[in-house]
Amino acid sequence: MKTTEIKTAELNTQEFISEKTGEIAATVGKGLAINALSGGVDSSAVTMLGHKALGGRLKTYFIDNGLMRKDEPQKIVSLFKSLGVAVEIIDARDKFFKALSGVIDPEQKREAITQAFYKDVFGRLVKESGAKYLLQGTILTDVDETVAGIKRQHNVFEQLGIDPQQAFGYKIIEPLVQLRKDGVRKVAAALGLPESIYNRMPFPGPALSARVIGEATPERIEAVRLATAITEEELAGIHAFQYLAILHQDRVTGIRQGKRDFGLQVEIRCWDSADARMAKPTRLPYDILEKLAQRLVTEVAGVVSVTYNITAKPPSTIEAV
Ligand code: XMP
Repeated sequence: MKTTEIKTAELNTQEFISEKTGEIAATVGKGLAINALSGGVDSSAVTMLGHKALGGRLKTYFIDNGLMRKDEPQKIVSLFKSLGVAVEIIDARDKFFKALSGVIDPEQKREAITQAFYKDVFGRLVKESGAKYLLQGTILTDVDETVAGIKRQHNVFEQLGIDPQQAFGYKIIEPLVQLRKDGVRKVAAALGLPESIYNRMPFPGPALSARVIGEATPERIEAVRLATAITEEELAGIHAFQYLAILHQDRVTGIRQGKRDFGLQVEIRCWDSADARMAKPTRLPYDILEKLAQRLVTEVAGVVSVTYNITAKPPSTIEAV
């Protein structure tokens, strides 16, 4: 079934919220539901919608997959606590690194993340909690790109002919699937989320594993986590749609202390976009790029080369994996 888009300009947030909370309440009935909060605008909006609809019958988890940005689990859990929403952290780091071990191909990596999330982690949480439903923040761009065969986004099933009930043992509710990113931001603001969340830049479901080309080992994830933190600090004032650091698989020859160093290379991307469907590289001032490169080669062990992507989407995509 084709999903009807609600265009952002035509979106009435109050009507949307009351319609979706009504639908969630009617679908879940007297039962229980669970959801995973990552701290992104989509999962944050779903968390608030779900709690509005179900109150204590929605259990919210933060899945610590070991692939999140620096200090993310604690920051997000304490922010939601201040909004009156209790979130439990699930330590699933070993499970995800095991699933990613030896995986190099981008689509296989996405599939490994999907299976670890939905079968392994949520499968167990659903069984333990007695919930029959998982609420999640899939948006229309995720569906479009998956159906078009561009990228298998980690959270798309039915549109690919996969029945989550059969595959994983529970049903999935997707209240945001008619919206694009800019529409979700409006809904998130109307739900009372702070600006740090509703204007937060997007971050992919496969998290930092989408920012490592080749195998996502704990060491390589640690390197890209540090590169990400530095990049986010240095580009924060630019107000671009999304900016990121990518760790490449290939090594390149560099020089350290007068000696050859066959080291790591990091690619920076910074995008101007409204909804992630099309994007252009931001024309960053050269001195900002220089400072960023200087910090990356000094602070991230082993990095000898930093590049800036100057290709638009399409044919590039926002993430490299
Ligand atoms: P791409 O890389 O396809 O990304 O141009 C478009 C937007 O989607 C984000 N992204 C994802 N979001 N699950 C998600 O929830 C995913 O598997 C995924 N992959 C990419 C990306 O960060 C960008 O904002």
